[in-house]
Amino acid sequence: MKKKKLEIMLQSLSGFTRPKAHLEQYTTPANIAADILFLAYNLGDLEGKSVADLGSGPGVFSIGACILGASEVHAVEIDGDAIMDLRENMRRTGCESIRVFNGPVERFSGKVDTVFQNVPFGAQRRHADVPFMEKAMEIGRVIYALHNASTREFVIGRYEEMGGRITHAGEYEFQIPKIYEFHRKERVWRKFLFLRVENQGDKLK
Ligand SMILES: C[S@@+](CC[C@H](N)C(=O)[O-])C[C@H]1O[C@@H](n2cnc3c(N)ncnc32)[C@H](O)[C@@H]1O
Repeated sequence: MKKKKLEIMLQSLSGFTRPKAHLEQYTTPANIAADILFLAYNLGDLEGKSVADLGSGPGVFSIGACILGASEVHAVEIDGDAIMDLRENMRRTGCESIRVFNGPVERFSGKVDTVFQNVPFGAQRRHADVPFMEKAMEIGRVIYALHNASTREFVIGRYEEMGGRITHAGEYEFQIPKIYEFHRKERVWRKFLFLRVENQGDKLK
């Protein structure tokens, strides 16, 4: 499949029909999700591999991983409404084999080859990203993650402390719904740090 075709497919997915600001619910734009998924595909981290999508929301990474041939996909999401959106997207795309875990990332257990996560920015709850990083390093061999770009040093340091090796780092910028009260506009531009992390350690286990 061509990247553009995947992007068009992801573009057609349902988003959050009942978004909740306190959970920092916004979707990764289809072109950026397709970019990250294709990097994973080209590096051999997707086809025939087991995947976890932490904080899946409506499932842009879960559905993308399914379409690109992951052997199993676990979507982990705390919010029941977002799970309903995910199930609708699974039905529409024929990705009904995705295993859905409705609960906090802290409670998910298992081991996978590859983790995808666009973690909460931490705007509503400080360090809301930490349980995601810790869970990803507990369960995954390779991690593809989007973080708040302003937390770059902290995030890289934390992955490295846990035995992660950063193999790819970059930046994306996209608009998200306002999550701070003092923003007048409905949507604001935010910079995201993208990381691919290879898990080389055993420090959390
Ligand atoms: C920034 S959104 C990303 C959604 C989706 N992965 C995407 O990239 O389009 C973060 C998601 O994490 C979920 N979430 C927040 N805290 C969580 C937690 N502790 N456990 C599981 N999911 C959580 C939110 O409900 C939201 O769906």
